[in-house]
Amino acid sequence: MFAMRIDEGLELRLLEQRHARALYDLTTANRAHLRPYLPWVDKLESVRGTEAFIRSGLEQFARGDGFQAGIYHRGALAGMCGLHYIRPDTRRTEIGYWLAEAAQGQGIVTRVCAGLCAYAFEELGLHRVEIRCHPGNARSRAVPERLGFTEEGILRGVDKLASGWADWVVYGLLEDEWRARNGAGAVLE
Ligand SMILES: CC(C)(COP(=O)(O)OP(=O)(O)OC[C@H]1O[C@@H](n2cnc3c(N)ncnc32)[C@H](O)[C@@H]1OP(=O)(O)O)[C@@H](O)C(=O)NCCC(=O)NCCS
Repeated sequence: MFAMRIDEGLELRLLEQRHARALYDLTTANRAHLRPYLPWVDKLESVRGTEAFIRSGLEQFARGDGFQAGIYHRGALAGMCGLHYIRPDTRRTEIGYWLAEAAQGQGIVTRVCAGLCAYAFEELGLHRVEIRCHPGNARSRAVPERLGFTEEGILRGVDKLASGWADWVVYGLLEDEWRARNGAGAVLE
C-alpha cells in the first residue's frame, strides 16, 4: 500500500482494486451532491466502472503521469483526489478532488491540496500547479483561494455537466509563490 500522511488523522492512499467497492458505494451515496460539478458521475453505472477507473489510475501512476488516491479521514474513506497529469517538459500538474457531502466543512481538501502542493514542488520538482473549478462552485473555488493560488481566467464551454456546457475558472500556483507563502508559514489561513 502506498500512502501519504497529510496530518493527524488525514491520509491519502493510492487506490487499488480492493478499494473499488468502498469507492463505488461512497460515489453512489453522493451522486446528487457530486452531479452538478463532476461530468463522469452519471456515466458510472456499476462497480466495474470504478474498477476500470482505478486500473487506469494505477497505469497512470506507473507511467509517472500522476495518480488517483482515496482521502482517508480518521481511517474512513471521505473522498478522492489526484494529480490529473504530470508534464515533465513544462513541469506542471493539475489537482482534482471531491469529498462526500458529510465530510465537508472540516478543511480536509484544503489540507490535502496543501500537502499535494508540497509534494508537487518539493518532491517532484514541479514549477506550476493548477486547479480548475466551475465558476458557480463556491466551495471548490475557496480551496485554491485559501492556498494563495491566483485566479488566471476562464476557459469557456470545456465540459458537459448535468446543467449543460460548463466553463472552468483556472487557478495557478507557481513554485516561487509556494515557497514565499510556505516560508512565511502562511499556507493555511
Ligand atoms: C469542493 C469540495 C471538495 C469542498 O469541500 P469543503 O469541505 O468546502 O472544503 P475543505 O475540505 O477544504 O473545507 C473547508 C471548510 O472547512 C473549514 N475549515 C475547518 N478547518 C479548516 C482548516 N484547517 N483549513 C481550512 N479550512 C478549514 C473552512 O472554514 C471551510 O468551511 P466553510 O465553507 O464553512 O467556511 C466539496 O464541496 C465537494 O466535493 N463538492 C462536490 C464535488 C466538487 O465540486 N469537486 C470539485 C470539482 S472542481
